[in-house]
Amino acid sequence: MKDFIFKMPRKIEIGFSKSRDLSKIIKEMKLNKVLIVVDCNLKKIGIVDQMFNNLKKENISFIVFDNIKNEPTIAEIDRAINDLNVASNFDGVVGIGGGSTIDVAKLLAVSGSIKGSIRDYLEINLIKESSVPTIIVPTTSGTGAEVTPNAIVKDPVEGWKKGVVSSCLIPDRVILDPELTISLPPKITAETGIDAFTHAIECFICKKSNPMSDLFALDSMRLINKYLRRVVRNGSDKEARYYMALGSLYGGIAITNSGTGGVHALAYPLGGKYNISHGLSNSILLAEVMEFNTKAVPEKFIKVADVMEIETTNFTKEEIVKSVVDEIRKLVNDVGISIEGFEVSEKVLDNLATLAMSEQQRLLKNNPRPISYEDARQIYKKSLGLA
Ligand SMILES: [Fe+2]
Repeated sequence: MKDFIFKMPRKIEIGFSKSRDLSKIIKEMKLNKVLIVVDCNLKKIGIVDQMFNNLKKENISFIVFDNIKNEPTIAEIDRAINDLNVASNFDGVVGIGGGSTIDVAKLLAVSGSIKGSIRDYLEINLIKESSVPTIIVPTTSGTGAEVTPNAIVKDPVEGWKKGVVSSCLIPDRVILDPELTISLPPKITAETGIDAFTHAIECFICKKSNPMSDLFALDSMRLINKYLRRVVRNGSDKEARYYMALGSLYGGIAITNSGTGGVHALAYPLGGKYNISHGLSNSILLAEVMEFNTKAVPEKFIKVADVMEIETTNFTKEEIVKSVVDEIRKLVNDVGISIEGFEVSEKVLDNLATLAMSEQQRLLKNNPRPISYEDARQIYKKSLGLA
């Protein structure tokens, strides 16, 4: 019987074409001038154009900021905070895009509380106040960033990615429109989908899990396991896109109220080293970290077997637990993710394990089984095909 607090955005609107209601929501929130942070590639998509046209028709004053590269650096965010001066110039921020765009929108919305560099606000609860409200419109199904209190930033010189974490970063309003994900290519669909599954399973097995986060985590795993293969095969499958959007949202809600662990802790150094997407980094490590964790929380893996609908009649407990790891490995393979093409050496393994130990303690502490330097090295070694 754990004490816990449960947090979520104030309102989440879900459904095909809901993003067309953006102007209605801005008016409802009585925002007069908004900053719209949008992924530059999305401006070409008709549906985003349509959102902008609606805003013009409704005489809503807005400025578009589309200078976002994937996985923004600390220097880029600091520059945007200085140049835009959001607290003085706008009374709301809208973020339309994938995880990186959403993270930048969230950081800009609290930037009135940031003095100096975002570098001084890494880790937990150093940002105490929001400056202006946020409306988030995700265009991928994976990061869950539309509901989380996290924003991930990168230091390319030191080679790490870290989270800024504060309840003030939880968006006020979310528009979850699966229509926006229809044109996502299979590779991004697969990688972001496995990222979402990773959120759910890590939040379920980790130390910070609680009865309410478990509800969202378990149903997230059920939905993603059921629909991810389908949506990778056929991106136009509206039912599968809808349930992937929900699965990803549930994974995000689980993060907000529980937290990720070893997979994410080891994925950030891997992503930084090879310059690969967050989803791919997680996909590479997921099965090995889960295998490592089975010893700590076998009863939880038995519940995961249930939501993944694994046939376990006549299995022993050990066999059920093992079947979950096998099924996860199969899911990653089935959606076309492979580890080919990485040049790995013993020295690289040392560097990765050192970085994980020095920079990712916030996440490592939440893993159900302690991960030592040697453990981390061994997990990297197996995941990257060296063992
Ligand atoms: Fe993630």
